[in-house]
Amino acid sequence: MRHIKLITALALTLCLSFTLVAKPKIRIIATGGTIAGVSATSASSAYTAGQVGIQTLIDAVPQILQLADISGEQLVNIGSQDMNDEVWLKLAKRINVLLNEEGYDGIVITHGTDTMEETAYFLNLTVKSDKPVILAGSMRPSNAISADGPANLYNAVAAAVSPACKGMGVLCCMNNQLLDAKTVIKTHTIDCDTFEGGPSGIIGYIYNGEAHILQAPMNKHTKESEFDVTKLDKLPKVGIVYGYANASPLPMQAFVDAKFDGIVLAGVGDGNFYKDVFEVAVKAQNQGIQIVRSSRCPTGPTCLNSEVDDAKYHFVAALDLNPQKARVLLMLALTKTHNWQEIQEFFMKY
Ligand code: DGL
Repeated sequence: MRHIKLITALALTLCLSFTLVAKPKIRIIATGGTIAGVSATSASSAYTAGQVGIQTLIDAVPQILQLADISGEQLVNIGSQDMNDEVWLKLAKRINVLLNEEGYDGIVITHGTDTMEETAYFLNLTVKSDKPVILAGSMRPSNAISADGPANLYNAVAAAVSPACKGMGVLCCMNNQLLDAKTVIKTHTIDCDTFEGGPSGIIGYIYNGEAHILQAPMNKHTKESEFDVTKLDKLPKVGIVYGYANASPLPMQAFVDAKFDGIVLAGVGDGNFYKDVFEVAVKAQNQGIQIVRSSRCPTGPTCLNSEVDDAKYHFVAALDLNPQKARVLLMLALTKTHNWQEIQEFFMKY
């Protein structure tokens, strides 16, 4: 009889200890977007992003409370087409404090999808932790029929508590998929499966609340990054010029006249310029404005010294970065150097 009592007491203690084991501490930082959007009617495609607050988003997915010790904060509530340097700097600094000083085990950021890939890449280069940092959004507003936000938020928390996501850099979690910050790209204006991982594909996926990692990012990121925004309250000015047949040199000239620090070209093919634009680019480079050649092509590298003699003009080739991500890296590179060869090395590493 005594044995039975002992075994029962032991079993109860074990059960109690399992339930009392602390869940991972996850902070959800809300910035707005469609995931916080509201449409006039659930069937309407007309909606406004950034209407619903963080607590409403958390209350809509009570199941996340089983995964983690959840708390939230509202950084901004904007459509991500209005994302800007000020929010990026605030976000990076806040995440570093939460992860490195306040003991959080992971971060989820709710964000619009329009510029999610840019914010993800900026954070990939400025977060100083290997703990999971996961961005989630949605393509349908919060009150739409079959809204995709709640599932994306649940999956993002599942990824944030998963040890498998540690050291993977900043990830985006959309449509059951995990995509890394360098290669993630929004490919479709309205479809829920809009995010893709480019030629290297997705990093992993979430299934039944479990994160499955398929591959690790090849580039340097987070703790290995040389970029530090702690002491920065603004970023260098870098614009993007779109290339096309018979292109006008006026947009590039306007950036030069406005004394921008760098200009990225979304060039045709392998980062080529129309001759009038090329002329302005050479002058800009000679005035100390760093030119980076990227491409309007959705996939494929912009190769160094291929159709354009970069060494001769001191241009930088964006390699695997599309124009919007080349701009992010050039902004951060210019906080450390204006030397074109050192900047090219950053493009080879990150
Ligand atoms: N205004 C867009 C944004 O906030 C809506 C797109 C979305 O969040 O899915 O990025």
